[in-house]
Amino acid sequence: MTDFFATIRRRHSVRRYQADMAVETEKLHAILESAIAAPSAGDLQAYQIVVVRAAETRRKLADVTDHAFLAEAPVCLVFCTDAERSAQTFGERGRELFALQDTTIAAAYAQLAAVAGGLGSAWVGGFVTPDVAATLGLEAHLAPVAMLALGYAAELPEPTTRRRLDEIVVEHDA
Ligand SMILES: Cc1cc2nc3c(=O)[nH]c(=O)nc-3n(C[C@H](O)[C@H](O)[C@H](O)COP(=O)(O)O)c2cc1C
Repeated sequence: MTDFFATIRRRHSVRRYQADMAVETEKLHAILESAIAAPSAGDLQAYQIVVVRAAETRRKLADVTDHAFLAEAPVCLVFCTDAERSAQTFGERGRELFALQDTTIAAAYAQLAAVAGGLGSAWVGGFVTPDVAATLGLEAHLAPVAMLALGYAAELPEPTTRRRLDEIVVEHDA
């Protein structure tokens, strides 16, 4: 286990994986537990996480998203909003905003847990929603919004740059 802040610093997208090194079941379980520990509006957890391990399905996801590494990484987690679950309590704000926030916060927690567990990961958002939904045969109330490739890295990711803090953060002086 690494220090939380070191985990954040260490996390960078990995786009090459050791295809023959499986992700241990306990490690995957810990990652999923971390995902669902994330906060959610009204504690509704308006999402579903689809765990894709089958090589054939990962190959199809790689094809429809044009991300070859999804076939290489032994696990792909697909984070799907369940907007109606949030809408039942929060109406339009739940449907349009909270479900998406719940889902992506859970994905972010999962990604950090993966890094803490010594895995590489990459967030994939570049895909056509209905293509991924059809590939996975998702029920109509679920919309895939983010995928995480998970596996042991076959590359050292290049550290990426960030905008400066003072470009992004403003002090509100009322
Ligand atoms: C909403 C979102 C969508 C992303 N979509 C993709 C994607 O489709 N393909 C990809 O290779 N990386 C994708 N990424 C990863 C970003 O490119 C990456 O996080 C960013 O360049 C910073 O690099 P780092 O993750 O190495 O720090 C996505 C990240 C986020 C948060």
